Amino acid sequence: MDLEKIVKEAAAPRPRSPRPIIMIGSGGIVRDAHLPAYAKAGFPVASLVDLNLDKAKSLAQEFGIPRGSSSIADAIQFSPKDAIFDIATPAKVLPSILEQLPDGAAVLMQKPMGDTLAEATEILHICRRKGLTAAVNFQLRWAPNMLAARAITSAGALGELHDMEVKVSVHMPWELWSFLSTAPRLEILYHSIHYVDLVRSWLGNPRKVYAKTVKSPRTPALAATKSVIILDYADDKRAFVATNHSHDFDPHMQRSFVQWEGMNGAMRAQMGVNLNYPAGLPDNLEYVLRDGAGWKQAPITGNWFPDAFMGSMGSLQAYVQGEARTLPTSVEDAIDTMRTVEAAYLSSESGGTELPAVD
Ligand SMILES: NC(=O)c1ccc[n+]([C@@H]2O[C@H](COP(=O)([O-])OP(=O)(O)OC[C@H]3O[C@@H](n4cnc5c(N)ncnc54)[C@H](O)[C@@H]3O)[C@@H](O)[C@H]2O)c1
Repeated sequence: MDLEKIVKEAAAPRPRSPRPIIMIGSGGIVRDAHLPAYAKAGFPVASLVDLNLDKAKSLAQEFGIPRGSSSIADAIQFSPKDAIFDIATPAKVLPSILEQLPDGAAVLMQKPMGDTLAEATEILHICRRKGLTAAVNFQLRWAPNMLAARAITSAGALGELHDMEVKVSVHMPWELWSFLSTAPRLEILYHSIHYVDLVRSWLGNPRKVYAKTVKSPRTPALAATKSVIILDYADDKRAFVATNHSHDFDPHMQRSFVQWEGMNGAMRAQMGVNLNYPAGLPDNLEYVLRDGAGWKQAPITGNWFPDAFMGSMGSLQAYVQGEARTLPTSVEDAIDTMRTVEAAYLSSESGGTELPAVD
């Protein structure tokens, strides 16, 4: 089995003829990831929209985008009819934005799909009622190292998969997102949600969730920024996410990886972006088989930021054009990631098992 070749051929879906994009929201993630990814993929952006007109205009100018505006109606009027909508705003405004889109439109929306499961359900119902082809931007699934990991596993190199862990111990500059300073739900909803979605994409829906999310004494004004989430699949399968976003000591011991273990091999993928957010360190993928050769580097090129953002948009566009049979992060699938996140918060609130008494 030529794993190097298999890794090099792993790719996210791409439309043959990309459609123009109307970008709603012109904040940090659009500047750092959406627009660089679309420039790299050759996806045309027709218009930027932001409540803050100056932001939309100046970012449009920076990326050579024809139009910056503060009105969705204006962007629709001046863009081609087959444009794809791409929303990157705080989750709270998703319902009101979705209501303004034409019925039957195709739309990608940033995670989270609402701040609670109730909001996610409202969003799902709007998408169904308006006949939208809607996906949530769970782009980690399309990071180059994650695609390579999937290809290695699909080739059968790991054997039966029985263990998946996500470990993040980093300093996250939460102050970059002013809207998070008062958010009642923070770490799981805004960050671990990517890992929960990733684990679901590999193992499906867990039968139960055990979780505890806690505040950091270093950032007492913020909601919980450290979490442990156990996703329970079977008595012989372990999956968990453990994150500490307030580890600001020497970067040498900071960690950010996904690790898989199968009967015949294991893999570890570094998610470099968390190690110096948002500039980031490189991603990588290492794997080991029972062949005595030790750990090897898989030949991947590109990183979660921005390359994975080509995958989430490419997947939606390829699906809309009939070139892909499935839309993996459709709202119909994403609602299950939101249910898993909700279960984690409910578990954290309801608490664990008290120590049994002894005589
Ligand atoms: N890896 C990822 O997928 C990733 C990373 C970072 C942020 N995000 C998500 O992207 C979203 C935006 O994050 P950000 O970092 O860009 O935040 P930001 O605060 O930098 O930008 C948000 C922008 O949305 C604009 N906005 C707010 N309401 C609007 C409305 N009704 N219409 C048009 N524009 C509106 C604001 O003016 C602001 O410019 C959040 O939901 C966040 O969770 C995802």
